[in-house]
Amino acid sequence: MRLAGKRVVVTGGARGIGAAMVRTFAAEGAAVAVLDVLAEEAGKLAAEVGGHAVEVDLADVAATRAATQSAVDALGGVDVLVNNAGILRFAPLLDIEPHEWDEVFAVNVRAMLVTTQVAVTSMVAQRAPAFPGDVVGKVVNTASMGGKAGGAGQAHYAASKAAVIGLTRAAAEELGPLGITATCLCPGYVLTEMGAGTRTDADVARWSARSPLGRLGQPEDVARAALFLASPDSDYLTGEALNVAGGMVTH
Ligand SMILES: NC(=O)c1ccc[n+]([C@@H]2O[C@H](COP(=O)([O-])OP(=O)(O)OC[C@H]3O[C@@H](n4cnc5c(N)ncnc54)[C@H](O)[C@@H]3O)[C@@H](O)[C@H]2O)c1
Repeated sequence: MRLAGKRVVVTGGARGIGAAMVRTFAAEGAAVAVLDVLAEEAGKLAAEVGGHAVEVDLADVAATRAATQSAVDALGGVDVLVNNAGILRFAPLLDIEPHEWDEVFAVNVRAMLVTTQVAVTSMVAQRAPAFPGDVVGKVVNTASMGGKAGGAGQAHYAASKAAVIGLTRAAAEELGPLGITATCLCPGYVLTEMGAGTRTDADVARWSARSPLGRLGQPEDVARAALFLASPDSDYLTGEALNVAGGMVTH
């Protein structure tokens, strides 16, 4: 029970990697609130794990602020914020429209700033660190291998994920003195509904061959790494961008 007594807010927790995180955290004793635009799926999962679901479109700043506060209130406070929601869009660099760029950045990065502002305000009000290194709260963000390695045909996505890594590092520096850590995960290829519409068997074979381990990721691979970052086991890690990419990226 590595999260016994912890209150965790997970964005994008209705399906895919986020749903695996919700189940993993709940199995380790956490009380979990799911923020997602998929109200029905989020509600079902919340009922399954005895948690809470809040419907929100994370592209909407005011709604995101209110939904994060509702989630924190439902849990009676917050110990860990997991910013996992994200969207993937494909377009050649020369064809990306400003509104497409803005859409990806609004969900993938700006929403993280907004949820972090609300959740960290609550963490700070709950308790001050009693000694240097006393961790009173954690923020875990989902970036991507693309944030380090780029990605042809998805420049807006890759740039947004590099921004997540930058946001995480700045947050780590600024929030560390308050006893709050900030880390992010950089998953490689994970078999979820994201990208499923364009993914072929040939793609899966080609991508698998890029991993020394010879396979793609499963949502549970990322959820187990998130559990480490959400738990006290990682209290001396902050500012890190941890790859969960089967060795495809190692920097
Ligand atoms: N699948 C991969 O290969 C992969 C690789 C690297 C990083 N990631 C990242 O992992 C995270 C989870 O991705 P996934 O593969 O589980 O994808 P997914 O599409 O299955 O799940 C994404 C979740 O975010 C929610 N979401 C999206 N836009 C939202 C919005 N505007 N408001 C509220 N909720 C919203 C969705 O409803 C969904 O529940 C994302 O940040 C993604 O960029 C995924």
